[in-house]
Amino acid sequence: MNKKKNNWYVPQGQPFTELDKKVLAFQNRGCLVPTRRLVKTAEQIEGIRRSGVVNTGVLDAVAEMIKPGISTADIDRVVYDYTTAHGAIPAPLNYEGFPKSVCTSINEVVCHGIPSDDEILEEGDIVNVDVSTILDGYYSDASRMFVVGGKTSPEKQKLVDVARECLEIGAEAAKPWGFVGDIGKAIARHAHRNGFSVVRALCGHGVGLEFHEEPEVDHYDTRRKGMLLVPGMVFTIEPMINMGTYEVFIDEEDGWTVVTEDELPSAQWEHTFVMTEHGLEILTH
Ligand code: MF3
Ligand code: CO
Repeated sequence: MNKKKNNWYVPQGQPFTELDKKVLAFQNRGCLVPTRRLVKTAEQIEGIRRSGVVNTGVLDAVAEMIKPGISTADIDRVVYDYTTAHGAIPAPLNYEGFPKSVCTSINEVVCHGIPSDDEILEEGDIVNVDVSTILDGYYSDASRMFVVGGKTSPEKQKLVDVARECLEIGAEAAKPWGFVGDIGKAIARHAHRNGFSVVRALCGHGVGLEFHEEPEVDHYDTRRKGMLLVPGMVFTIEPMINMGTYEVFIDEEDGWTVVTEDELPSAQWEHTFVMTEHGLEILTH
């Protein structure tokens, strides 16, 4: 079912640009197109880029201190201190009641793990650190995997590597005037070839003026085209790749922590990208 939404319209009295004509042609053919607000101005993209620079600095600071024996609350403190020292705000803090500044997700935790003084990193753990930053009102969002102590089992290392490849392959599949659905199709093919599954319950998202905007960026093959990819759109790709089943559940006690149903490991990498006329450009390098 493809409900027709007339997302794109040219305000009265405003001239039609080439971009308007092109998007309207897709819309008239029944394609799902973005709203105009989702196509960022050059000024907005610069703002998101600056936010992304701080976000990358946070992840680099985490990379420096992560080692066996520290707690995930130690990571949270580094994230809070670095972010605020750079005039920015950690986006997760108090977001829909989230209590900390960063998500830390170890082994079978898929995402949205809450940092805690009681959670100590052990040699061989694989941990995702998901950092999101607000600078001057602009949002950026990226995450990396860390192998605690630098060495883990071959299976977990492969999961970490394939998850990263999935992000790269998904980003390459996203073409200007292509569709969001191309991304998940490419990611799922690579994950399945390697014997892994793709989480369906959580997705990437538009980002920039808010934490979570349209479109939803699925990482599996939805068998739908999804939204048209117009230059100027800013969104994340953040595949969560599982060793076993794709199914997940949310911890009832904290209402946040997402865990694999079979409690086998999961890995995730994330970047914020802007669509250009030539393809995606990373804003969180
Ligand atoms: N950073 C996550 C994302 O990639 C969102 C986390 S929401 C939070 O979209 F509240 F848990 F921080
Ligand atoms: Co995100």
